Amino acid sequence: MAVRLFEGKDHAAAYLRYRVTPHEIISTVMNYMKKKTPNQLNLAVDVGCGSGQGTIPLAPFFTKVVGTDISLAQLEMALTNSNPPNVSYRQCPAEELPFASGEVDLVTAMTAAHWFDRPKFLLEADRVLRPGGCLALLSYTMDMELEYGDISNMLNVICKEFYAALLPFRDPYIGSSSGKIYSDMFDSCTYPDKEWNECFLVKRVVPLSGYIGMVETFSSYEKLRIKDPAEAERLSNDIQSKLLSAMKVSSPDTEVTVVVKYFYLLARKP
Ligand SMILES: C[S@@+](CC[C@H](N)C(=O)[O-])C[C@H]1O[C@@H](n2cnc3c(N)ncnc32)[C@H](O)[C@@H]1O
Repeated sequence: MAVRLFEGKDHAAAYLRYRVTPHEIISTVMNYMKKKTPNQLNLAVDVGCGSGQGTIPLAPFFTKVVGTDISLAQLEMALTNSNPPNVSYRQCPAEELPFASGEVDLVTAMTAAHWFDRPKFLLEADRVLRPGGCLALLSYTMDMELEYGDISNMLNVICKEFYAALLPFRDPYIGSSSGKIYSDMFDSCTYPDKEWNECFLVKRVVPLSGYIGMVETFSSYEKLRIKDPAEAERLSNDIQSKLLSAMKVSSPDTEVTVVVKYFYLLARKP
């Protein structure tokens, strides 16, 4: 079974605006590829590409990059991005990729594979990858933290309140820990040459409103918003006011550092 979310146009637009692109991990993926399989970088496929944040940074390294997603709204948003000429998009399920067997050099899924039918997707990725091609799956945990002067701990108590309020709206398909989903995929990957990193920190300076916007792109916030839009708005306004008050500032444009905890799996097909 796979799960269909992320179909709304507003949600897709929020993705493009607020989501962090983990350039640091994309560099790690490319260093891995250059080390393990240096001579062939023709085709990369970014599965569950959303609005293309992780797809476009692959463009300098490959002859061709294709982002695939099941959601038309996300792909329409991806087309509004400034896409290099070697980047294109296809609408298809992750479990049925429109590529010939052994055609692909790199398959990535960035903050997406937990939504797929994982066993079917892993088989499909294996089918399309050439021998020596690589699989890179990455995602982040929901518990992003904030750094701001010497009151980071105080802010993070408030952030935890935000996440706790959203927890009941997490989709049962991903359960309470996506880390476990990815470590299970790592364990089930039969390629002998594989790496797992369960805590890779990515930091970004953003306006406080940008942090709130990021949390509002979470599927759990989207579920709350669909069920009870007034409550969703009240919750995010309440958290923003509490954070502003703790920071002793009035403007949501005030910058904070967001610390996002990623995990990733890298594997080379023998
Ligand atoms: C959380 S978003 C991540 C988007 C993007 N990769 C990023 O890093 O921001 C997950 C994406 O996976 C897509 N998705 C979910 N299930 C899918 C499936 N079975 N096949 C293809 N795409 C899927 C959703 O439509 C959504 O765009």
